[in-house]
Amino acid sequence: MFRSLVTGCGSYLPANVVTNAELAKRVATNDEWIRQRTGICQRHIAAEGEMTSDLGLAAAKEALAQAGVAPESIDLIVCATSTPDETFPATATRIQYALGITSGAAFDVQAVCSGFVYGLSVADNFLRVGQASKALVVGAETFSRILDWEDRSTCVLFGDGAGAVVLEAERPAAGANGTGRGVLSTHIYADGRHHDALYVDGGPSSTGSVGYLRMEGKEVFRHAVVRMAEAVDAALEANGLTPGDIDWLVPHQANIRIIESMGRRLNLPTDRVVVTVDRHANTSAASIPLALTEAVGDGRIQSGDLLLMEAMGGGFTWGSALVRW
Ligand code: UT7
Repeated sequence: MFRSLVTGCGSYLPANVVTNAELAKRVATNDEWIRQRTGICQRHIAAEGEMTSDLGLAAAKEALAQAGVAPESIDLIVCATSTPDETFPATATRIQYALGITSGAAFDVQAVCSGFVYGLSVADNFLRVGQASKALVVGAETFSRILDWEDRSTCVLFGDGAGAVVLEAERPAAGANGTGRGVLSTHIYADGRHHDALYVDGGPSSTGSVGYLRMEGKEVFRHAVVRMAEAVDAALEANGLTPGDIDWLVPHQANIRIIESMGRRLNLPTDRVVVTVDRHANTSAASIPLALTEAVGDGRIQSGDLLLMEAMGGGFTWGSALVRW
C-alpha cells in the first residue's frame, strides 16, 4: 500500500471584503449579534463573473508551486464544491483545463461543508491503492450565489473562497512506516434523515432553478458538536492515539462556539486551534484548506506535527482526517 503525503497547500480569497456593519445596511442585523453568536467579523465575496473554478484554480496553482509539482504530473483532481460553475461538467474539469492538464481523472465531490474531508478521503484512497500517484484536492465555493440576501439568519454566516492541497503517493519500504508523514486516516459519514435542517431549495431536477440555502441553525449546531466529536473519537481510536497527541486542530469554520467546544473537548490550548472564521466566515468546503494554508504559511504548522481536521455539513455529512504534516 502507498501512503498520501501532503506536499503543498494553497488558498485564494476574493478581493471584496464585506464587514458585518455593511451587512447591517441590507438586513436587520448588527455587528454585535453576528460576533457574539458566530465569531464572524467579515467575509470575502466573489466579484461578478468570478466563478468557483477561478477561486479553485488560484488555490491549486499556489499548492502546486509550494509542492514543486508540475501540473501535467497530476493524475487526479477532486474538487469539493456545492456551488459548481455549472450543473455539469464538473468544476474539477474546468480547473484541469485551466492548468493545461489533459490526462488523468477529474471530478467533483458534493458533501457541502464536509466536502474537503470527503475529497481528501476519496483522493487518499485512490493513492493508497495505486490508482493515481499525484492528486490535487480542491475545496472551492461561491456560497454568496446561493444565499437569500434577505434572510438574516443565513446570509451573515457564509463567505466565498478556495483552498487546495497536493497529495503525492509514497510507498514505505517493506515493514517500515516510511516517513511516518501523510494522511493517517479519514472517517466520513452521512445521514440523509436530516435533509430539512440544511439544504438548498432548488436544483436542476426539482425546481429547475439554483435555489437558496435554508438552515435550521440550532438543529445543525446541536448535531455538529455531537457528530464531529464521534468522528474525532473514531480517528484517534483507529490510530491508537489520544487527544494529547494532537498538535493542531484545523476544523471546519462555521461558528467559533462550535470550534471552541471541540477544542475544549480535546483539552487543546486555544493557540493550538486554527481559527479563520472571524475573517472568512463559513466558506463550506474551502474552510479547512484555507485555515490549513494560513497556519502553514505563517509557520505555526511544522513538519512532523499531527493535524486533526473535522467537519460537518448539509446531508448531514460529517467526518475527520488525521494528517502527519
Ligand atoms: O457549516 C455547516 C454547518 N453549519 C453550522 O454549523 C451552523 C450551526 N448553527 C449556528 O452556528 C447557530 O445556530 C447560528 C449562528 C446559525 C444561530 O445562532 P443561535 O444562537 O442558534 O440563534 P437562533 O437561530 O436561535 O436565533 C436567536 C435569535 C432569534 O430571535 P428570537 O426569535 O430569539 O427573537 C433570531 O431571529 O436571533 C435572531 N437572529 C438574528 N438577529 C440579528 C437570527 N439571525 C440574526 C441576525 N442578526 N443575523
